[in-house]
Amino acid sequence: MAQEFDLVVIGSGPAGYVCAIRAAQLGIKTACVEEWINPKGEPVLGGTCLNVGCIPSKALLESSENYEKVTHKFADHGISVTGASFDLARMIARKDGIVEKMTKGIEFLFRKNKVTWIKGHASLQAKGANGYQIAVGGETISARSVVIASGSRARHLPGLAVDNVTVCDNIGALTFDRVPKRLGVIGAGVIGLELGSVWKRLGAQVTILEALPTFLAAADEAVAKEAWKQFTTNQGLDIHLGVQIGEIKTTAKGVTIQYQENGEAKTLACDRLIVSIGRIPNTEGLGAEAIGLKLDARGFIEVDAQCRTNLPSVYAIGDVVRGPMLAHKGSEEGVMVAELLAGQKAHVNLDTIPWVIYTSPEIAWVGQTEAHLKKAGIPYKVGSSLFINNGRARGQDETDGFVKVLAHATTDEILGVHIVNTHASELIAEAVVAMEFHASSEDIARIVHAHPTLSEVVHEAALAADGRALHA
Ligand code: FAD
Ligand code: NAI
Repeated sequence: MAQEFDLVVIGSGPAGYVCAIRAAQLGIKTACVEEWINPKGEPVLGGTCLNVGCIPSKALLESSENYEKVTHKFADHGISVTGASFDLARMIARKDGIVEKMTKGIEFLFRKNKVTWIKGHASLQAKGANGYQIAVGGETISARSVVIASGSRARHLPGLAVDNVTVCDNIGALTFDRVPKRLGVIGAGVIGLELGSVWKRLGAQVTILEALPTFLAAADEAVAKEAWKQFTTNQGLDIHLGVQIGEIKTTAKGVTIQYQENGEAKTLACDRLIVSIGRIPNTEGLGAEAIGLKLDARGFIEVDAQCRTNLPSVYAIGDVVRGPMLAHKGSEEGVMVAELLAGQKAHVNLDTIPWVIYTSPEIAWVGQTEAHLKKAGIPYKVGSSLFINNGRARGQDETDGFVKVLAHATTDEILGVHIVNTHASELIAEAVVAMEFHASSEDIARIVHAHPTLSEVVHEAALAADGRALHA
């Protein structure tokens, strides 16, 4: 007799596991199917984010940043450290330990909330009298409702095999056994910049080849300009824009990449290569065709604003659907769908999803860029403030960057906030709250911000938008 559930969630990344927990909390009999096997050969929960994404990358960013501080920043504080060195194996083991604790934490939460974890690959079979039949291993389970949270995987270059030793995607790039002398990166997107920074700080000579002629095209122009200065001039990442990748050869010694730049043929020779050119949705082998689930031309599952697919009682959330491929976006969709299934009202506002790039300094934004506003013909005003004028930033020796507030020219509603600063990932939360409540720049300007804190720069930028800057 097939096991029967009210809800089966396929995938236990941040979209799926959060959905499963919330559904179970609301009294829905829930199972989550997960096929991930970790390098030790053990089945694990957590998906890309916990195993080979957000969590391990941030652990290595922190370790490499600490090494950078010891070797380059402490001297200014009067602290001298001689013979600083690092043990890469230990750094990687620390990262792996964090991953293990976090994935085990989800196992604990599943037990606590009575979510059944079914190990293996889920494939949708058919719709029957008891809902949808789903094959997992040799078994069939049935579900009155299904949430597909199968996530995404790295896009590879056609004809270039990824062995995750010499030619790597995000998986191999988080587990190097030694620092490559020369590291090539294809794609100056989020992964290229974050992981390029990690290996650069640990001593690699990093060259990044980017197809687009514009750097960080999705970011506000002022942010992209500041980031370019930081990463290239100050930190020595060698970034080439507008390149066309040609033949790539892998040999015992490394990789050679032929490419065109400004009409000139060039070659990059490196010991290891990271290919970080975006991600593709995991819809293969899911049985979408068996039940008539509609995908778009790029393989994403088609959904409406509330993550409903074209099939009754089948929802899809996270990286496998439209919208930014971000863990927090997927998690919020998971909560929304669980609450809808429990008969509640729920929604996710895709217009206020924060973006963070965890480089040093960090880059964070929410809402519209100036370019978007110009294109849409929306009248706006700008308020900016620099961290160099802020006492806390001076004390922390983290004076790079700025906050830029974009507000509607007549209503003063905040339309976008853009931050470059070491703690931008934390500072952006205030802007997200403000925008969610349709706050004006005057609202932030009139809120008391503690002194001395970096948040005073958000305050000052909001004052500036109203023509009332105090410290500029
Ligand atoms: P995933 O996390 O991809 O999980 C999907 C799960 O479904 C997987 O475990 C997979 O095994 C399972 N699965 C798929 N098909 C089946 C099937 N048929 N049967 C059973 N199981 C199945 N985002 C951020 O917000 N912040 C960050 O700092 C950040 N850093 C990142 C760093 C890197 C290096 C990478 C690669 C990504 C990063 N991301 C970050 C993006 C983030 O990881 C994803 O947006 C997020 O993991 C998507 O969650 P998801 O649940 O939709 O999918
Ligand atoms: P990305 O979309 O951020 O960047 C890919 C880059 O590769 C783009 O700039 C693109 O123009 C370039 N590119 C594409 N094809 C190319 C080619 N043939 N040659 C040269 N350049 C090429 O994708 P990335 O960095 O792989 O990351 C995937 C996703 O994972 C991100 O979009 C993001 O959603 C998520 N992520 C989020 C993080 C965060 O929130 N901090 C960190 C890391 C990943």
